[in-house]
Amino acid sequence: MRNPALEKWGDYDRDDPYPLFAQVRAGGPVHEVTLADGHRAWLIVRYEEAKAALNHAGLSKDMHAALARDGAVVAEGLPGPAFARHMLGVDPPDHTRLRRLASAAFSRPRIAALRPRVQAIVDGLLDDLEARGDAVVDLVKGFAFPLPFTVISELLGVPESDRDDVGSWFTTLLAPSSAPEPPAEAVAASESIVRYLVELLARKRATPGEDLVTDLVHAADQDDALSEQEMLSTIFQLVVAGHDTTTSLIGNGTVALLLHPEQRDALVADPSLVPHASEEILRWDAPVQHSTFRYTREDVALGGTVIPAFAQVIISLAAANRDPDRYANPETLDIARANTSHLAFGHGIHHCLGARLARLEADIAFTTLHGRFPTMRMALPRSALRWSHGDGLVLRGLSELPVILAPQ
Ligand code: HEM
Repeated sequence: MRNPALEKWGDYDRDDPYPLFAQVRAGGPVHEVTLADGHRAWLIVRYEEAKAALNHAGLSKDMHAALARDGAVVAEGLPGPAFARHMLGVDPPDHTRLRRLASAAFSRPRIAALRPRVQAIVDGLLDDLEARGDAVVDLVKGFAFPLPFTVISELLGVPESDRDDVGSWFTTLLAPSSAPEPPAEAVAASESIVRYLVELLARKRATPGEDLVTDLVHAADQDDALSEQEMLSTIFQLVVAGHDTTTSLIGNGTVALLLHPEQRDALVADPSLVPHASEEILRWDAPVQHSTFRYTREDVALGGTVIPAFAQVIISLAAANRDPDRYANPETLDIARANTSHLAFGHGIHHCLGARLARLEADIAFTTLHGRFPTMRMALPRSALRWSHGDGLVLRGLSELPVILAPQ
């Protein structure tokens, strides 16, 4: 029998969607679903098919091109043009050019060189939390959000004096909403971001810095002919991709460890286990639960199903990461698991450009947080935690995580 959850995909228990993912996965690798907004899409839930789909030449990221021939699929709800021309929204050759322009900033040596600075930010945030002396602190607000937001702001060259404004515009813009139309505050926030980024580009052109926005401005003035819209979209996408996801990794990972005290104790005793544990956390509770949409250019056969041309496709990374055909005891968090390779950063040409940075931040965050507060515990029972992101299918994270850092 067809699972009724497929008729309103996304409208499920946010506290623990995994039992549902298991049911749907058991029913087959590919399902046609109706999304909460009424649109139809094809959902992929098993590992092999998910990996194949993420790298399939018949699936396009460019919704305007892929759907231009079929206005019936998605005629409304296309994102505003200001932010649509970034690497995750286009196919090669544009993808190759846009990704290359940003990729030097994420190379192995450039990311490794950030280690002392990320450590200093982590130490500073934890000093501040401790100095407040509050019995209960919100680890999302005081740590998991400001860490990646500060790092990506510094990387891009957003001055410190502007960060409160920029942070609050992005928070407003990305706040979950189940309304069919974007709320007025989100529209206003989006306009503020465009105005701000246009001004930032002008500032960097006049006074170059050692940062990624300056690099992009420079590239735009050279042969690469990066358009103003591509620059705005790229910076916008890097801010979005660079903070919310990592905030969720730090929050979800901390909850995962607090709920598995014996595994947390093992990390505290041997911090060299942290990088491997982070991979298992990414597999077990993926911050990006579903990929962004893809669109079939032609009929695409996957897992015995033919997805027709000009359809929307969404890949459940979170469901694929718990596929029993791929992992033994997939529902169990096991930081000592041998096979922790996962799809949490996607796969193929759109594999996360920031994965190295996210791993560095998680490594330092988990090592320092748990090393410094080895008896930390949650101030609320698990059932009282609120998972944010409303109807959005992509992200899974906590809106707050109240903890007692050093219980007496
Ligand atoms: C793409 C996950 C952190 C920048 C992706 C994709 C996933 C992902 C799943 C592919 C989406 C798709 O194919 O539909 C994550 C997770 C993160 C994280 C789980 C943190 C734990 C970051 C950071 C940055 C970043 C810190 C940058 C500072 C990007 C970019 C892309 C991307 C630029 C697009 C790559 C392309 O289209 O070629 N990320 N990400 N991400 N991510 Fe991340």
